[in-house]
Amino acid sequence: MIPCRHLTMAKLQFSMAILTLSFISSFNSITSSTFTLTNQCNYPVWAGLLSGAGTAPLPTTGFPLQPSQSNSVEVPPGWSGRMWGRTLCSADSTGRFSCVTGDCGSGTIECNGSGAAPPTTLAEFTLNGANGMDFYDVSLVDGYNLPMMVVPQGGTGGNCNVTGCMVDLNKNCPSALRLTATGGSDESVACKSACEAFGDPMYCCSGAYSTPQTCSPTSYSEYFKTACPTAYSYAYDDGSSTFTCSSANYVITFCPTPANSRKTTGAGQPPADSSGGSSLAEALGGHSVMVIAVLLLTMISLKCPRCFIFLLLG
Ligand SMILES: *[C@@H]1O[C@H](CO)[C@@H](O)[C@H](O)[C@H]1NC(C)=O
Ligand SMILES: *[C@@H]1O[C@H](CO)[C@@H](O)[C@H](O)[C@H]1NC(C)=O
Repeated sequence: MIPCRHLTMAKLQFSMAILTLSFISSFNSITSSTFTLTNQCNYPVWAGLLSGAGTAPLPTTGFPLQPSQSNSVEVPPGWSGRMWGRTLCSADSTGRFSCVTGDCGSGTIECNGSGAAPPTTLAEFTLNGANGMDFYDVSLVDGYNLPMMVVPQGGTGGNCNVTGCMVDLNKNCPSALRLTATGGSDESVACKSACEAFGDPMYCCSGAYSTPQTCSPTSYSEYFKTACPTAYSYAYDDGSSTFTCSSANYVITFCPTPANSRKTTGAGQPPADSSGGSSLAEALGGHSVMVIAVLLLTMISLKCPRCFIFLLLG
């Protein structure tokens, strides 16, 4: 017969293990992420946000950002979706709001569940996916309208690489791919994907070209890839364009200028010493009291079961 006391002990240790496990998993899945969108362009940008089917909605689906302005959005765990910038926006005489690039057709500043019309640079996210990792990329598969950079901050796993398309592709956009503003100017305001411009399955990775083996880079996708090596340049560009991180916050910058950083510092730049050095402390943050408590209790219950019972009773 097993003495009663041992059963109680086993139960207690079991509960401790559960408590410890649930505490550890809370690191990866329970906290939301902060996404900070920053506009370093010298023109206003209207952010657009679209949640993927079946994921929690965000508190906002669109807002304006004046030059050097930032706005933070709390993104729930497990969220997936995309974010982009709308440019050359205005309201017409009836109050209907629209943009020359990145428009979502909602007629308002909020995109309200509608996605971006191509050509638009997209930042794409799947949070807490396989193995609890966040997956993210910047995609030019739907074309390009402005430079964008994604910087994970305080992440604890994955490569957490900075990605994006930092350069202006409008200026040298191949003439067949140019989107010009209405009004006769030749100036390109966005650069289409070859798929959008020509509709050819070879460029769209559709039909006979619908597998990674049969759809290859083309001279058009190479234009994007050469300028922006970490961004998706065509549908099967996965190998060099998808990045992973976990427990991170993300800074998304329109028109990042890493080389000639202007007086606005911080948000648009890759993590500096200050944020890098304190990332562990930040990650632990409010959990630290609980860490110490759990560790102490676990140690006591393993080393001295009786002390632990006394502690609980007394
Ligand atoms: C937003 O979308 C919902 C669902 O499609 C619709 O009912 C609602 O009228 C839209 N709101 C605005 C302001 O357009
Ligand atoms: C992430 O960046 C590092 C340093 O630049 C690089 O060596 C590594 O290949 C990158 N990882 C991926 C998956 O591109």
